[in-house]
Amino acid sequence: MAPSATTTVTETAQSLPQQLKATRFFGAYKEIAPYKYDKEAEEGKTGLKPAKYPNYLPTWNPEQKYPPLQPFEHYEHGKDADTSYPDLLPEGTQIVDLTPTIGSEIRGIQLSSLTNAGKDQLARYVAERKVVAFRNQDFADLPIEKALEFGGYFGRHHIHPTSGSPEGHPEIHLVHRGEGDKGYDQFFENTVSSVAWHSDVSYEQQPPGTTFLYILDKPETGGDTIFVNAAEAYNRLSPLFQERLHGLKANHSGIEQANASNARGGIRRREPVVNAHPIVRTHPATGEKALYVNPQFTRNIVGLKKEESDAILKFLYDHLAYGADFQARVKWEEGTVVVWDNRVTQHSALHDWKSGQRRHLARITPQAEQPYETPFKPSS
Ligand code: SIN
Repeated sequence: MAPSATTTVTETAQSLPQQLKATRFFGAYKEIAPYKYDKEAEEGKTGLKPAKYPNYLPTWNPEQKYPPLQPFEHYEHGKDADTSYPDLLPEGTQIVDLTPTIGSEIRGIQLSSLTNAGKDQLARYVAERKVVAFRNQDFADLPIEKALEFGGYFGRHHIHPTSGSPEGHPEIHLVHRGEGDKGYDQFFENTVSSVAWHSDVSYEQQPPGTTFLYILDKPETGGDTIFVNAAEAYNRLSPLFQERLHGLKANHSGIEQANASNARGGIRRREPVVNAHPIVRTHPATGEKALYVNPQFTRNIVGLKKEESDAILKFLYDHLAYGADFQARVKWEEGTVVVWDNRVTQHSALHDWKSGQRRHLARITPQAEQPYETPFKPSS
């Protein structure tokens, strides 16, 4: 089976090339410390370039077993923000808008130094701009506990059911393709494109809101991440079609991701869930409405027959995917932290870089409110 977006974010020992497995992992799966990336190999003994951040190499600990997530009260800090952004964007900050409706690039501030007022403004600014790339950040150099403390301001940390994480920190979700890993040489034998639009873990009852992804190691070129503005996608629909979507819910499922992980010999920290969410959700700080269905995790529209549901979902997926006039592309630079609002965007990694180069990122994924919708208004 060709890797998909879900496999790229849940790489396991089994997904490494055969010849590297023996040297990169301690012993066989299920023996002593079976889940650790081999730090010695990473330090140069394989002749490959070691990771810049070995403390962030992925581990898969089969002992990590968690009960179902319980509901919690989310506090939306974006509601408290001063929208003149005095703490987030003081004078002298360099701001470049990547497109009119989505994406900004910021230089000259340090996220790790933000006050709580600055963090409130960050949540709101990101909800407005949908995705923001902060350059020259010290985030990756912080102790992991400090990075988590920062992210924890925005919501309860999500622990991914299957993905690799730094040892002892299951709250960090890792995206990692190792140096020398040529797994993608076969990728395009079975698929014409690596684009896999999704909003993260939309199957959870309370999916993530303000989300952080920071680069640790990057290929020379390529491996960009693309984003689509799902609020603008909603705005582009005719009022009649918007109105028809209101009141509909769609099921989002984590089952296939968990099964794919099991099939590759990966871990399952929590049993998978299915949750129904409104197809049009409202953002709690901006009041904007956004389309909330994605081809990775959405399965069907509740109450419709299969063909009806498939036709509407296909139209919405195509609309989001073709909307290059409401999309943005982020190029990774060393020291970049990308922050997006997972409630009003979708994204996809692009697997176009030269095979065998490391691509290594860490994601902090605070959960937010249960998606809800507010009534249809023709002008919204
Ligand atoms: C993600 O899907 O959260 C990661 C995106 C990326 O690897 O660029």
